[in-house]
Amino acid sequence: MSEKTKVILDVDTGSDDAIAMMLALLCPRLEVLGITTVNGNLPVSNTTENTLRVVELLNAQIPVYLGCAAPLVSELLPQRHLRSAPLSVVTNGKTVCYHREYLTELPAATTKPQPRSAVCYLIDTLLASQGDITIVAVAPLTNLAVAMRADPRIVKKIKRLVIMGGGHLQSNVTSAAEFNFWKDPEAAQIVLQSGCDILLVPLDATHRAYAGAAESRFLRQLHTPVGDVAASLLDFSIEAYNAMEPLDCAPANTAPLHDALAVCAVIEPQVLGNVQFRRVDVDFSGGVCDGMAVIDRRMCTDKPANVHIALDCDRERFIRLLLDTLASAK
Ligand code: BDR
Ligand code: CA
Repeated sequence: MSEKTKVILDVDTGSDDAIAMMLALLCPRLEVLGITTVNGNLPVSNTTENTLRVVELLNAQIPVYLGCAAPLVSELLPQRHLRSAPLSVVTNGKTVCYHREYLTELPAATTKPQPRSAVCYLIDTLLASQGDITIVAVAPLTNLAVAMRADPRIVKKIKRLVIMGGGHLQSNVTSAAEFNFWKDPEAAQIVLQSGCDILLVPLDATHRAYAGAAESRFLRQLHTPVGDVAASLLDFSIEAYNAMEPLDCAPANTAPLHDALAVCAVIEPQVLGNVQFRRVDVDFSGGVCDGMAVIDRRMCTDKPANVHIALDCDRERFIRLLLDTLASAK
């Protein structure tokens, strides 16, 4: 049997982060060494509690490390974040949002995060490694940027960095930007320019990694705790996308599972399509393009490529791997 791929997950759980964690923790081809949390979809105390809840659901003995509580600098200028699309709306007297404060389908966590911070954990673990750890970052990149600034030696120790973030022809939180990059644009730029081997999974790919009623029914019919929770998270996301963000590249009554696609890309890289090696920079000038991933697609360019970026995905393959893996839970 071939060796498992060692991974560290960096999350801001979060509905789709929770499904991504389930995929990673249940997949026999991955060895999840640890999970770091960060401020993003919710404050870091919430993303950490939600992460612990999912780890406990899976009975996994995986350490969770509390990460950065705020972006590097973007929140020092509050007007910078005023242009974003609403993250919740009230329809028929009911509040619909992308990510609830807590994953209420799961009981409060009984475990605690580790005493060491996420940044220290990343530095210590990477420096002590054989250069064989893949990092899957599906949240604002604050932890990684701080770790790289604090000890740049980690850059060469990261085998591959798979990031869910950015978009080329797709955006979500503003007309220009994707949420994870927009939330901490300086961190995103630091990480993209670090020299790491980076695979970027942007909205162009994740918006095609959607799931809907058929997938939700399949999950419920498993009659397992994992199946029930995943179905409930998916139904919740579908309601949010219907109310706030119907997509032009997906049918109605579906929701994209952004973060799970990034995990899937580690397990089965062929799930990604149209992968190009390009120069990608993140705008952090505070204007209308704040947080935007700028992809240089010119044939002749003076800047070296820094990122493999996937502009498409094989949805059927993704859904098959996701459902088969979630179905393997007892
Ligand atoms: C990203 O933003 C978050 O809301 C999701 O969890 C995903 O990581 C998509 O833009
Ligand atoms: Ca996320």
